[in-house]
Amino acid sequence: MNIKNITCIGAGFVGGPTMSVIAFKCPFLKVNVVDINKEKINKWNGSDLTKLPVYEPGLDNIIKKCRGRNLFFSTDIEKNIAIADIIFISVNTPTKTKGIGAGQASDLKWIEKCAREVAKHANGHTIVVEKSTLPVRTAETIQIILNTKQDFQDQDKMKPTFAVLSNPEFLAEGSAINDLENPDRILIGGDDIQAKKALSDIYKNWVPDEKILFTNIWSSELAKLTANAFLAQRVSSINSIGALCESTGADVREVSRAIGSDKRIGSKFLDSGPGFGGSCFKKDILNLVYLSKYFGLPEVANFWESVVTLNNWHQNRISKLILKKLFGTISGKKICILGFAFKANTNDTRESAAINICYDLLEEGAILSINDPKVTASQIELDLGIPESKINSDLNEGDSHTVENRWEFHKDIELASEGADAIVILTAWDEYSEIDWNKISQRMRKPSWVFDARSIVNPNDVIKSGLNFWRVGDGNENFSNN
Ligand code: NAD
Ligand code: UGA
Repeated sequence: MNIKNITCIGAGFVGGPTMSVIAFKCPFLKVNVVDINKEKINKWNGSDLTKLPVYEPGLDNIIKKCRGRNLFFSTDIEKNIAIADIIFISVNTPTKTKGIGAGQASDLKWIEKCAREVAKHANGHTIVVEKSTLPVRTAETIQIILNTKQDFQDQDKMKPTFAVLSNPEFLAEGSAINDLENPDRILIGGDDIQAKKALSDIYKNWVPDEKILFTNIWSSELAKLTANAFLAQRVSSINSIGALCESTGADVREVSRAIGSDKRIGSKFLDSGPGFGGSCFKKDILNLVYLSKYFGLPEVANFWESVVTLNNWHQNRISKLILKKLFGTISGKKICILGFAFKANTNDTRESAAINICYDLLEEGAILSINDPKVTASQIELDLGIPESKINSDLNEGDSHTVENRWEFHKDIELASEGADAIVILTAWDEYSEIDWNKISQRMRKPSWVFDARSIVNPNDVIKSGLNFWRVGDGNENFSNN
């Protein structure tokens, strides 16, 4: 099959970077990325590359090189389906909010809509690739929709034909470009030999042959869910041990190092933090839970569900701990939050631990001053469901500790910490590990605390500056200046 035109439906965190890298590595292919969201497409096409809808280190350079050459962003879905030899479906698959399976099963309405659009507008033979993360056997549904192209009446044309493949994406946000350029593996599931060859030939332009794995379609779909479940399970496992460390005097960093040096365990994904966030871990595990229940395996469902339960408990544990350390009340106290993204090097806040933790603190009456290098105030407003309200603007001098349930955004870390009773570090941005604690300490209201949920600051620097210090999973009791 001679592949010339690729279309990707969905210009989000996966579609945008993935297609940019394909365009970059395969200059002889024309790559079109389409989306129903006009505002997003305008941002992808904007001249200011600091305002792309997705922040990923290195992405701006690739866009600069490829956009307008062989990479195009557009809302013209119909035309770009019609010209495509391969169509990647990379739309969102969030957890269902109502109906059967609500709260656990994936909502496939966007996938189904795409399949119907493809069925309607495709020409000739088209390879349809599931890039979105999908429950097992979704490819079957897509194939059925494509094969029953009901309105095909054009006698002069051949009826379009389709081959469906599963090709899940394993990139992590914040390192997406590197992950795409140097993947651990490319997984291709399906039966159609020609389609598999056509898709793998694209990847072979930069991925070694031995890293391209072929499986049956259901194994490929299930492997994606399983990979995320295993990764999230490690985070919940280490966070559970972190809590035990805090109670016993052990240090979770030392435990991680000790167990991670065992090759069978490995050193990655053993950092205790504020609990896993991101758009996929929770959604994909809940999906696995739903599938296990559906297939009559309640023990399997309970096992995986506990990974999410532990994560929720852990996030709530951190909020409670802050409350306890601040004399049991934070009503009217100013708390500075450093980091709102779910991890460093991304502007994505979906399921960020910061949302739950900030929400808990606001519920207790705290006033929050939030800093993040890449997340905007308007995004935080959407996530918290509470409008930003300048803490001091409509108050008299000295009133800042009297008005509850407010938050404001600060680009500057020092200004964010002004008059704060506590600083809570929730995202491991590099700049937070370089903070001058002497300067910050002078601005805070004493006695003041630093809560490091990411273990990125040097405890001695904080303590020397006269601040009390807590960090996740550390049972050392000598951190408090109280
Ligand atoms: P996203 O929300 O960032 O992007 C999805 C895009 O699809 C949105 O821009 C939306 O407007 C668009 N869309 C929805 N329906 C459409 C339609 N009918 N026609 C055209 N456009 C449509 O989501 P994402 O983070 O890119 O995730 C996409 C999929 O990839 C999900 O299944 C997710 O589980 C999976 N995934 C995500 C990541 C990640 O790091 N975010 C990694 C691997 C896999
Ligand atoms: C994750 C997987 O790593 C990707 O392989 C997968 O493609 C993607 O989900 C997806 O399907 O969406 P991502 O969520 O972008 O990627 O980021 P991760 O690096 O996995 O981090 C997830 C969460 O776990 C973050 O909140 C992170 O801070 C937390 N984490 C991670 C820890 O708390 N400790 C760790 O040791 C590692």
